[in-house]
Amino acid sequence: MKESELTTLLHTMTLEEKIGQLVQLSSNFYSDAEGALTGPMAQMGVTEKLVADSGSTLGASGARQIIDLQKRHLEASRLQIPLLVMADVVHGYKTIFPIPLAIGCSWHPELAEEAARIAAREAAVSGVHVVFAPMVDLVRDPRWGRVMESTGEDAFLNSVFARAFVQGFQGNDLKNDRDRVAACVKHFAAYGAAEGGREYNTTDLSEWRMREEYLPAYKAAVDAGCKMIMTSFNTIKGVPSSANRWLLRQVLRNEWAFDGTIISDWGAVRELLAHGVAEDEQEAAEKAIKAGVDIEMMTLCYPHALENLVADGRIPVSLIDQAVFRILNLKNDLGLFESPYRGVDEEKEKEIVYCAAHREQARKLAEESCVLLKNNGILPLQGHAKIALIGPFADSGDLLGSWSWKGEPRDTQTLKQAFLKDASFDTFFAKGSGITQTNSHFLEEAVVAAKQSDVVILAVGESSAMSGEASSRTRITLPDCQQKLFAALKATGRPIVTLLFNGRPLELGSLAEQTDALLEAWFPGSEGAEAIVNLLTGKTNPSGKLTMSFPRTVGQIPVYYNSFNTGRPLAENPQEPKYVSKYIDCPNEPLFAFGYGLSYTQFMYENLKLSASRLMEDEQLIVTVTVANVGDRPGADVVQLYLRDVAAETVRPIKELKGFKKIFLKPGARAEVSFTINEPMLRYVHSDLSSRSDSGRFEIGVGDSSARTLNAAFDFVKKDGVPR
Ligand code: GLC
Repeated sequence: MKESELTTLLHTMTLEEKIGQLVQLSSNFYSDAEGALTGPMAQMGVTEKLVADSGSTLGASGARQIIDLQKRHLEASRLQIPLLVMADVVHGYKTIFPIPLAIGCSWHPELAEEAARIAAREAAVSGVHVVFAPMVDLVRDPRWGRVMESTGEDAFLNSVFARAFVQGFQGNDLKNDRDRVAACVKHFAAYGAAEGGREYNTTDLSEWRMREEYLPAYKAAVDAGCKMIMTSFNTIKGVPSSANRWLLRQVLRNEWAFDGTIISDWGAVRELLAHGVAEDEQEAAEKAIKAGVDIEMMTLCYPHALENLVADGRIPVSLIDQAVFRILNLKNDLGLFESPYRGVDEEKEKEIVYCAAHREQARKLAEESCVLLKNNGILPLQGHAKIALIGPFADSGDLLGSWSWKGEPRDTQTLKQAFLKDASFDTFFAKGSGITQTNSHFLEEAVVAAKQSDVVILAVGESSAMSGEASSRTRITLPDCQQKLFAALKATGRPIVTLLFNGRPLELGSLAEQTDALLEAWFPGSEGAEAIVNLLTGKTNPSGKLTMSFPRTVGQIPVYYNSFNTGRPLAENPQEPKYVSKYIDCPNEPLFAFGYGLSYTQFMYENLKLSASRLMEDEQLIVTVTVANVGDRPGADVVQLYLRDVAAETVRPIKELKGFKKIFLKPGARAEVSFTINEPMLRYVHSDLSSRSDSGRFEIGVGDSSARTLNAAFDFVKKDGVPR
């Protein structure tokens, strides 16, 4: 449809029909089953007319279901305006990829983009138009359950993955490429900074910090062309995001020139009452529409109040027209006016959803997303070993994570099944413990199995329900019964390889010291079991690197790599026993650092060189390092570039990721890896909130982890030559 035709359509709509476009209802409202509109629906004040006028739905999918749904909707809609179908396809539709916190650990954005493309292909053929992804909230508090949805604690890395996910979901021609879907980046903004890591809790950050750390990844998604953005539940500078004009009008619309659609999170408009910034639905609707929320998800302040607000002159109808136009424009971008059934296809759906090629890709990404945190040489497993596979995840399909929607744990291969396919092992199995419960019988069985084996593979962790939305934890340890199981197995004297299945960094305590090897598997997705067996046997060499720090104890939180030096840095005052920035009962460093991960081979970094010791503003400086595979097997390493602005107008992190390259080397091979440094990389947010660079000294670190780098320095000189 041409834009002029959209405008004509808009002007033929009644005010009631326009307001209907701003409403999103869950799929059960559209069921033609008896009673769909009675009971809770009637209580909510949903009428058949409102359903007919509604602009979008969430939670529906399946080619047949969507064809029927769209057909009924078009018949009921006076102006034949197609319904938008949205869904939480966060890391896969039916073929489930590792959780995003795992995908981040692959440091392989191309694989992330491919995962999003596959997810889009399966979702689109099943009738989905918009996915509520990527989630790009920066996270530094593993007590918060939703860290599993993020790619971690670093704004630069999150921005790289945000662009990759948006590109994978949307492609370059959304109207004609029916295998793509529109991306809805979330949760705008800074939802990951909830106080205490408590779900839906208050967020309060300085604007300086928001602009420097918490906003960049959303902007990366906007710059990548994402079609929609979702407001978060939390407050920003004292005002909930869904009523926040500074955030939605000033930053998103004016500064970032975002012209897509803004949708509230579930119920977030009506939650303005609970937040205490709206007395009633009328005020909530007024604040949200004035802030710029186009679609109200699953509450009815807009249909209950907007007509009166217009009639009373409290809002101009133009605000509604602008919101409706953005929604019609999105439908047009998706080609829905010409093809309301878009890419839906029952036969094709059977052929491609959960197909072998997609699962193969999920396995590849799972292999690169696992992180080898410790290995005393017990891994890779030697052939013909007798192994005891023990633990609540030894034979569990709960490998998909909490946002796996169409993914089926019962269809998911378990570790036990994967091991049984590998005849090179004599394998004993024992559950040993449930996730949170055990008994003496379980424990005895496990000890017997361990004593019959050469090595114990202990599969432990959180259930998928213990992370994700509404799953904050104050104790982020392994459940006590699993710690008890570990101790019982340790007492047998058999070497233990511990596999972790979890949605957050855990407080591992003594297990990290006592286990012989430790592989972080996160929730590895549909093909996670196969991926893990390939890693344990050495068929694939681990290459994952952490993108979120593991605290030694929950008392350290927040602990993250790019912290500020403070006026009394411990590292610079080792002789000072007391009056420095430290704890008296715990080191400052995390247990495992951002960027850390081991391989079965060893990589040596040497010859860090700079093309110059001075960088002029309009020039480039080339940093090179030689990386050699000095081990006996091929492998990949992630070469990381960190910078530090030694003295700036505001404090600057002791190191900041500014680049990375994942390289593959055969044994004995060496490669020269280079990075280009230029002025835009040196910009930062000043105290006046402007973003610019200053002359001065910069330290460079290049290495295989934020905690281990070769170091150098250079001076940066602005054209005006004036220091900051
Ligand atoms: C939830 C989540 C959001 C999700 C939405 C729709 O509350 O916060 O991430 O996309 O509702 O399910």
